[in-house]
Amino acid sequence: MKMVVCGKGGSGKSTVTALLAQEWSSNGRDVVIVDTDESNIGLHRFLGVNPPTDLMDQMGGKQEVMEKMMSAMKNPDGFDDLKLFDKEWNIADIPSACVSENQNVKLVSVGKVHHAGEGCACPMGFIAKQFLKNLKLKANEVVIVDTEAGLEHFGRGVEEGVDAVLMVLDPSYESVLLAKKVSDMIKPLNLPMYYVLNKVTPEISQTMKENLPNQKIIGEIPQDPDLLTAGLSGNHISDSSQGVKQAIRDIVMKTKNS
Ligand SMILES: Nc1ncnc2c1ncn2[C@@H]1O[C@H](COP(=O)(O)OP(=O)(O)OP(=O)(O)O)[C@@H](O)[C@H]1O
Ligand SMILES: [Mg+2]
Repeated sequence: MKMVVCGKGGSGKSTVTALLAQEWSSNGRDVVIVDTDESNIGLHRFLGVNPPTDLMDQMGGKQEVMEKMMSAMKNPDGFDDLKLFDKEWNIADIPSACVSENQNVKLVSVGKVHHAGEGCACPMGFIAKQFLKNLKLKANEVVIVDTEAGLEHFGRGVEEGVDAVLMVLDPSYESVLLAKKVSDMIKPLNLPMYYVLNKVTPEISQTMKENLPNQKIIGEIPQDPDLLTAGLSGNHISDSSQGVKQAIRDIVMKTKNS
């Protein structure tokens, strides 16, 4: 199963990604987190690992991928003809330098913005889309894709290579608005879409539910001091309240057949 985690900036995508990965792993699954956020650089810390080498570097670097994309644009079939991978990959085919691992959770990072003026992030989006489409999973394997804030990854077609979309909503009007937009945007893709309400109380959840489109809300995660501390200190997320643990267990249970 490959699942994209999306949502507005700061809603808790990376936190929920890390928590879900740990829960899947403790259920005996082999988990790969694919970090497709080209800007934020702290996800590895939530997982207690060092940052892996970017996949972009394995692909020859950003300049080389950009040049391949520019030359593909001159062909009649455009990007359809451009294949960055010459064969299907299993998880074992991912170069070891591009994998950081802790307790059966692997982290792979597509690529980060490193320099001012280095150009747009389209090559990262292109690698993310092809990597996810090209990666073949065994029954026991789960891929969770952490995305950048907002909608850019939908525009890049990253969702073409996944089986489900999980949207994290914090208690804000902007999150509710975005949920409606994403719900409309992914209709043509025919993917299951789930909502997770994060940093909520039962009262806040109720208000949000009244304003959300008719999609599945599969988890309600409370505001939690341990998660706040991990986010503040940049530390491994190693503990959380019973309320958070139960919400994460519920989400895994409800998405395991996606
Ligand atoms: N349930 C929660 N309780 C308390 N703090 C939380 C909770 N969920 C997330 N946080 C905190 O909120 C902040 C944002 O979380 P996170 O980085 O996961 O969001 P994000 O959606 O990935 O952000 P970005 O859009 O920048 O990638 C972090 O400091 C994190 O520790
Ligand atoms: Mg994030």
